[in-house]
Order: sequence, then C-alpha cells, then structure tokens
Amino acid sequence: MALVYLTRVERFNAAHKLWVNDWSEEKNFEEFGKCANKNWHGHNYTLHVTVKGTPDPLRGFVIDAKKLSTIIKQQVTDKLDHSNLNLDVDFIPKTLQATTENLAILIWGELKDHLSGCELHCIKLIETENIYAEYYGE
Ligand code: NI
Repeated sequence: MALVYLTRVERFNAAHKLWVNDWSEEKNFEEFGKCANKNWHGHNYTLHVTVKGTPDPLRGFVIDAKKLSTIIKQQVTDKLDHSNLNLDVDFIPKTLQATTENLAILIWGELKDHLSGCELHCIKLIETENIYAEYYGE
C-alpha cells in the first residue's frame, strides 16, 4: 500500500499584534518590533495543509482536493480571512499570542477531526516570504 502525501494550498489575509500586557510599551517594542504596533498590521498568509494516505483504487485520490479545500475554508480560512486574529476568531484564545507558530497548532486542531480516508500530516503556515511554521501534531 503506497503512502502518498497530498498538499492543498489556501490563502487568507488577517491583522494581528504581538503584545504582552504585563510588559511596558518599551519592552514590547524591544521584543516584538513593529509587530507590537498598537493599531495592528496585516499579513497575507499562505496555508499548506498536507494529508497522508493511500490513493483509492477507483479515483486515485488520497482525498478529493476540492473537498479538502472546502473543509479548510469552512473550518479555518473563512474564519480567519479579513479578521483581526487577536479579537475576532472563535478558535484563537484571547490570551494567546497570534504568532505563526500558535496559529499552525490551532489550525491543526480545527482540521484533524474533519478528514476522512486520510490523516492530517502537516500544517505549514507562511506569514511572510521569510517566515513560516510547520506543525506535525506532536
Ligand atoms: Ni505580524
């Protein structure tokens, strides 16, 4: 049984701010730089969702990529797109920093129980052309 990894790519735009309430403004800027700007800033995120499984004998699919896209949109990107990640999204705790790392973990949690016939392998979230995070469910 051949194991194949299939990736679906989706995109969303969102605003956020990195900030620790217990720190002074100076300390926040020292730690987070421009990401601590008080009136928010945005990113154009690219989300890679990789699943693993065996292609079914009839269609040759690990999962129908269009169905996977619909699941990702319904569970994740429709909620994130054009949102404020610190304030607006039901699955992002208000107490958690809306970093790429934390978002990758949360997105995993939103998707893992919604796939059938294959298994979630990796959430790769690209924040800028220089920064991305990968989460494998560990
Ligand atoms: Ni940022």
